[in-house]
Amino acid sequence: MYTAPRGTHDILPEEWPYWRHIINCIHETAALFGFEQIDTPIFESTSLYIRGVGEGTDIVEKEMYSFQDKGGEEITLRPEFTAGIMRAYLENGMRVRPQPVKLYSIGPIFRFERPQAGRYRQHHQFNVEVIGEQDPAVDAEVISVAWHLFKRLGFRGLSLQINSTGCPQCRPSYLQELVAYYREHVNEICDDCKRRLERNPLRVLDCKNEQCQPVIARAPHITDHLCEECATHFADLRTLLEGLGLPYTLNHRLVRGLDYYTKTVFEIYAEGIGAQNAICGGGRYDGLIEELGGPPTPGIGFGSGIERQILTMKEQGIEPPPLPKPQVFVAHVGDAARLEAFRLTSELRKAGISTLYGFGRRSLKAQMKSANRAGTRYALILGEDELAANAVTVRDLQESTQQSVPREHIVEWLKERLSSPAEAPGE
Ligand code: HAM
Repeated sequence: MYTAPRGTHDILPEEWPYWRHIINCIHETAALFGFEQIDTPIFESTSLYIRGVGEGTDIVEKEMYSFQDKGGEEITLRPEFTAGIMRAYLENGMRVRPQPVKLYSIGPIFRFERPQAGRYRQHHQFNVEVIGEQDPAVDAEVISVAWHLFKRLGFRGLSLQINSTGCPQCRPSYLQELVAYYREHVNEICDDCKRRLERNPLRVLDCKNEQCQPVIARAPHITDHLCEECATHFADLRTLLEGLGLPYTLNHRLVRGLDYYTKTVFEIYAEGIGAQNAICGGGRYDGLIEELGGPPTPGIGFGSGIERQILTMKEQGIEPPPLPKPQVFVAHVGDAARLEAFRLTSELRKAGISTLYGFGRRSLKAQMKSANRAGTRYALILGEDELAANAVTVRDLQESTQQSVPREHIVEWLKERLSSPAEAPGE
């Protein structure tokens, strides 16, 4: 027996009410804030991610699904959205559009991680990017998009954490001080942090190891070392968030795991899915487009795990609206009725009535059982008597009543009674 690869999962029909509801709320929220949708390939050149996400990051070092394709190209399955979207912004000349360009995407992300609750090797993100504007109001707006969505989904116990990671002007001197402080405490920290100190010192602040917690608690704060521009930007963002009445916590340890961040970084947590599992994470990346060969262009965005949103719904007991069920079941008895039933099924579907047909040559009782299981409102029955009378027997499965309706009126008759038309398939 084959099984789904470790860390991946099938999205079964019973999960789709959650997915549809969240995806609908995402489209609705994105439209409310004036975002446009973009889709990029789920694989890109490996070098794009090495350059964009950063060589010393966990994603690039340990988590990418990278391979050489049959043409010899080095390819990586998308481990995050941002680098690919910046590539698309540059490649498609989106700089000439009115700035900022506000884009959102929904799609799968691949990371070779240790699978656990809320952590998968294939997950899906709702991703948002605003490119071409450095006003801190953009930072506040991007955070509001996520906040609005989570409120719309009915999440309770939301907590927004923010920090600033400075810029290439002010970060180096902070890092010097951080490293000097850590060197004094090198005997008190874990081996991972000793390594981080060499390769990616900011990440020591992120360490979850018990042993390192007292050292982290006394570490210097980056917000005390920001240059004037970064400090003003951060102060302005805080004023804007306060103005919106959006509660936040200043988290000096929040540094995020991708190298492109500058200035604002943020994460959002929800009650019920564990303190390790952010439902949203993002930040500003004012140097990324330049790093990828474009002109200096600021940007900010976030990614939010859809599986984690679903976990939050389940943990908090939030039910998604049910998906529409087929409205009519067409049952038949006898050979002549079989053909007529198949034609009627097609006619009903053309009229926009979602209809199930009774396959095979099963007894009426068995077909009624199928109709009940499928939850249709009506069952239509065609047999010899109905054909002779040029009529259809209609059973109302909700009211448990039955009546005969002339064949030529059945479509109109049903249309009148089924007020809400079946939803079109797809999203
Ligand atoms: P990230 O924090 O790596 O950021 O991922 C964003 C979100 O994706 C997380 O907060 C979490 O909800 C979800 N997530 C991440 N990894 C997993 C996983 N293994 N299983 C389930 N859910 C997961 C980024 O990816 C950045 N590109 C976000 C960004 C956009 N920054 C600026 N623009």
